Amino acid sequence: MKQIKVVGQKILSGNIEISGAKNSAVALLPAAILSDEVVIKNVPSISDVRALEDILSYLGADVYKEGNKLTINTKKVKNIQITEDFSNMLRASYYFMGSMLARFKEVQIAFPGGCKIGERPIDIHLAGFEKLGVKIKKEDNTYILKADKLIGSEITLPFPSVGATVNVLLAATKAEGKTIIRNAAKEPEIGNLIDFLISMGAKIKGRDTDTLEIEGVKKLTGGCVQVMADRIEAGTYILAGVMTGKDLKISNMNPNHLTSLINLLKEMGANIKVFDDYVIASKSEFLKPVSVTTEVYPGFPTDLQQPLTSFLILANGTSYIKENIYENRFQNVSYLKQMGADIEIDGDTLTINGPKELIGGVVTTSDLRAGAALILAALVAKGTTTIKEVKYVLRGYGNIVNKLTNVGGEIVLEDV
Ligand code: EPU
Repeated sequence: MKQIKVVGQKILSGNIEISGAKNSAVALLPAAILSDEVVIKNVPSISDVRALEDILSYLGADVYKEGNKLTINTKKVKNIQITEDFSNMLRASYYFMGSMLARFKEVQIAFPGGCKIGERPIDIHLAGFEKLGVKIKKEDNTYILKADKLIGSEITLPFPSVGATVNVLLAATKAEGKTIIRNAAKEPEIGNLIDFLISMGAKIKGRDTDTLEIEGVKKLTGGCVQVMADRIEAGTYILAGVMTGKDLKISNMNPNHLTSLINLLKEMGANIKVFDDYVIASKSEFLKPVSVTTEVYPGFPTDLQQPLTSFLILANGTSYIKENIYENRFQNVSYLKQMGADIEIDGDTLTINGPKELIGGVVTTSDLRAGAALILAALVAKGTTTIKEVKYVLRGYGNIVNKLTNVGGEIVLEDV
């Protein structure tokens, strides 16, 4: 088991460079099989990406790595079943549904894995595929999706699901005729995927809007993309900066993707300065409490809800967070309480009474962002905190230990 130990109350100062976005990379790699050979640059060094490389290799692709650039040749990819061993490694394994359908008109794949933060059904993905002419069977845990031909269609998503938008988009690139996806998700990672698909020759209109128009093409070729900067990783380190930084620079990022967080921090009176492609954050005092609701983009991202909770413990008064996207994304709270926080859970809402001083101890990570939240809490806590099961954190935060050590954090990763 991997665990992280953090000695708290160190001041973080220097530069943290943000890596490529997990939630972009995990869509771009499965999309590679739409073409024969693609190049993906700025790929983050995280276990979710390594899992996708394993799935691509299992399917027959050649994956060449050169620093953080991947060249993926998919000429020899075969239409074989993606078994539970592979699909269970991460949530985004389900993007092979869309890309295999586009390439083979058929896919057999077991239900995906991923963090246990709610029910996370895939009904919207499946309904979208059905509209494109796909017949769906489920045998035990395996979905068998098959189409004689993929036919363009008009699809209105009941909720702007990121995953369903990506999956339907992938399949529609090679459908016959035009597909319109209404109420599509607008997360920037989808824009990054659209750029990649267009570089392969896909015909897609409506980037960054909630209506995507895809004119199916017979063949896609080539393809090159740079993974966008990870806005959630950037947001997490900005929070580290306002909790315990001294001019901590978070660079190589796009502040426009984090307007909701930045506005919230300004409303609280936090010490941040925002530039074109970096933010400088310093430890902030006399913070105003706030009320936050998680929303789809450009609203406050659910992926920063747990990290934000750790920060709101330091605010002067009572803050509220309503989690609107997932049913079970408060598993960090009991550990934060153990460390000294005063937080109540009432259904989908947290009441956080601050300010409270946190004390180190032994805590366990239940999911990726819960782990990030516990690391933030440990950075400001008195004494040492041991955070168990950090494999979840390594899914999405590349080189987190080095990044924090380089700016003055006292943090080690141990295999126990
Ligand atoms: N939903 C359904 N049916 C569906 C699809 C979604 O009910 O068919 C529900 C989900 O259960 C959830 C909500 O809709 O309650 C949002 O789901 P969405 O499909 O938008 O999310 P996702 O594609 O499963 C991606 C990211 C998540 C991020 C969300 C929201 C990936 C691999 N995952 O998940 O990232 O929270 O979008 O932005 O891209 C993370 O990085 O920590 C993470 C969980």
